[in-house]
Amino acid sequence: MNAKSHAQKSPEKLTEKEARAELARLAEEIKRHDDLYYASDAPEMSDAEYDELRSRNMAIEAAFPDLVRPDSPTHRVGAAPVEAFGKIRHAVPMLSLGNAFTDEDVADFIQRVRRFLGLEATSPLDVTAEPKIDGLSISLTYRDGALVQAATRGDGEEGENVTANVKTIREIPHRLKGHSVPELIELRGEIYLGHADFEQLNKEQAAEGAKVFANPRNAAAGSLRQLDASITARRPLRFFAYAWGAASKLPAATQSDVVAAFAHWGMPTNPLMRVCSTLDEIIAYYHDIGLKRSSLGYDIDGVVYKVNRLDYQERLGFVSRAPRWATAHKFPPQEAMTRLMDIDIQVGRTGALTPTARLEPVTVGGVVVSNATLHNEDEIKRKDIRIGDLVILRRAGDVIPQIIGYVPEKRPEDAKPYRFPHTCPACGSHAVREVDEKTGRADVVRRCTGGLICPAQAKERLKHFVSRNAFDIEGLGDKQIELFYDEGRLMKPADIFTLEAREARKPQEKRIINQKGFGEKSVEKLFKAISARRTIGLDRFIYALGIRHVGETTARDLAKALKTVDAFRQAVATAAKGGRDSEAYADLDNIEGIGETVVDALVDFYAEPHNVAALDDLLAEITVEPFVHSRATASPVTDKTVVFTGTLQRMTRGEAKALAERLGAKVTGSVSAKTDYVVAGADAGSKLTKAQELGVKILSEDEWLALAGHQ
Ligand code: IVH
Repeated sequence: MNAKSHAQKSPEKLTEKEARAELARLAEEIKRHDDLYYASDAPEMSDAEYDELRSRNMAIEAAFPDLVRPDSPTHRVGAAPVEAFGKIRHAVPMLSLGNAFTDEDVADFIQRVRRFLGLEATSPLDVTAEPKIDGLSISLTYRDGALVQAATRGDGEEGENVTANVKTIREIPHRLKGHSVPELIELRGEIYLGHADFEQLNKEQAAEGAKVFANPRNAAAGSLRQLDASITARRPLRFFAYAWGAASKLPAATQSDVVAAFAHWGMPTNPLMRVCSTLDEIIAYYHDIGLKRSSLGYDIDGVVYKVNRLDYQERLGFVSRAPRWATAHKFPPQEAMTRLMDIDIQVGRTGALTPTARLEPVTVGGVVVSNATLHNEDEIKRKDIRIGDLVILRRAGDVIPQIIGYVPEKRPEDAKPYRFPHTCPACGSHAVREVDEKTGRADVVRRCTGGLICPAQAKERLKHFVSRNAFDIEGLGDKQIELFYDEGRLMKPADIFTLEAREARKPQEKRIINQKGFGEKSVEKLFKAISARRTIGLDRFIYALGIRHVGETTARDLAKALKTVDAFRQAVATAAKGGRDSEAYADLDNIEGIGETVVDALVDFYAEPHNVAALDDLLAEITVEPFVHSRATASPVTDKTVVFTGTLQRMTRGEAKALAERLGAKVTGSVSAKTDYVVAGADAGSKLTKAQELGVKILSEDEWLALAGHQ
């Protein structure tokens, strides 16, 4: 029987007393996890489990509306209020900047400043120069060094209160450090998302069928403006401080020194900021940053110049909505037009068909671009992009170039709408969009159903198998995998470990050594690298299998709970055989960090006979070491085998199991001589009797929790 459904009565079946007790427990538990998540930065449960707690709470509240507690978690979303963001009036308006596009515009700016201040051509005028970050500006109020409020720019006069969300951004300190921190200081700067994080986020969004962001700026804005601060918390937003608003006292008399003080207080500031003394220096800085632009790792759209002396800034003041003492020197936009020649489909490791635009090569932002991603089938339809169209390409720094749209006036008559293939271009198997059972919506991703018979998937899986965080085999890069696969030398993971022996049996002329690009040394090195990996930890091993939805964290969670490769196999095989309603399925589902999506993926993997065969072949060649706990996570119950029986009072069976596994214990369903503890709740039956017969140590629920250090 499914342990979860046994232990968790559906809300409408609860008595009022039970409902009241469970709501109290949930309120406390969710609060604890919120604190762990937001305040201590040390979550103890996966997002999925946390969501499960919240939805259980909501379901019970829906069934017993009279029992909703004043401190109910539904009144809070993470740390943010549920209602829309409140408004905040800026004590000092948040202004924008005037623009300069050419070197002459910059010379004019300097000229204007000098004229306004009545400076002789020979009097010094220092100007700071720094990158103009393409993110969203934010104001952070610190009182007595503590972050008390964060507001968006809004219309410059009034912004939104995003304090709870901003508090989840790791780079923004909750406290300023040092002696010179004024009583009140409002720091201003830019929140942004780095290129790598942006790409990762979009990949995840696409995989989940969620919105794909057009650029890092939109993604940063979308991530910050989340009513649910826990979503913001999961997005790796970053920050640079570059200005200030209200302040009880400033730490210095120049722009550069004030920003240096920010850095001392623990605020991230841009390391590329410089003080320039002449127009030539300013222009040289601009061109230098232009060259560095694509390798910065974040989007910038120009350079900002500010008069360095604050007394000068004061005198210069503002014109309309921009300071007279600063200007933005913009980069020309990194957009270009080119012809879409064709659309190719690439097949990934899990069979995802990804459309890639083949373009007439064009230079965008100093880089020649001939490919761009089109994300997925729906994206092509939505943008109505056809082969032959003149398309607008945008490249933001290192980010993979995007096709923004096509030019309608320039559409050729014979522009061809693209028909997304329903068969895999690599193996001819059907390619399908899975329909989500719950939502009834088709996945945005179309997948090849060919599994291991698909050469594209097989190659990608092999590449994943040898990658750095999996088997980490040096000398087997993407190129070698492609080549060895095409030659029939490496078709499946086990082949990697039999390669050397098979080579030895081949006639000299057919050996790798006689291939272009290989020498005796490199082949010897490769075999050595392979041998070095014949022993591997269980977590890396599981990750290397490349099962859908099983990333590094999930692989680790599985390894931690199941300990040995035999237990892992056994657990997955039994769940695959028993199906969704089986106890084995529920057992996997109950593992800390594991949810139904993962269990389904494991079961699907195991249901394919060729996957099982590939696994067997592989295990014949290598040794998988049991998962070992780092000392920090070891507990008195680590590596003990535990059986729960009867009805528990203080937590559900599923929770008890998750807790036990989190502490390193192994939870099984039946009592044997190998069992270390049987935890007996009310009405325990045959398992208790068996434990008594075998002399296994029997614990009450409280004794167990005390042993586990969970009071
Ligand atoms: S200074 C009163 N410095 O650009 C002047 N702004 O176009 C305050 N920005 O609203 C702005 N990087 O969001 C300044 N290094 C930088 C900047 C920067 C980006 C943004 C800021 C501002 C906008 C004006």
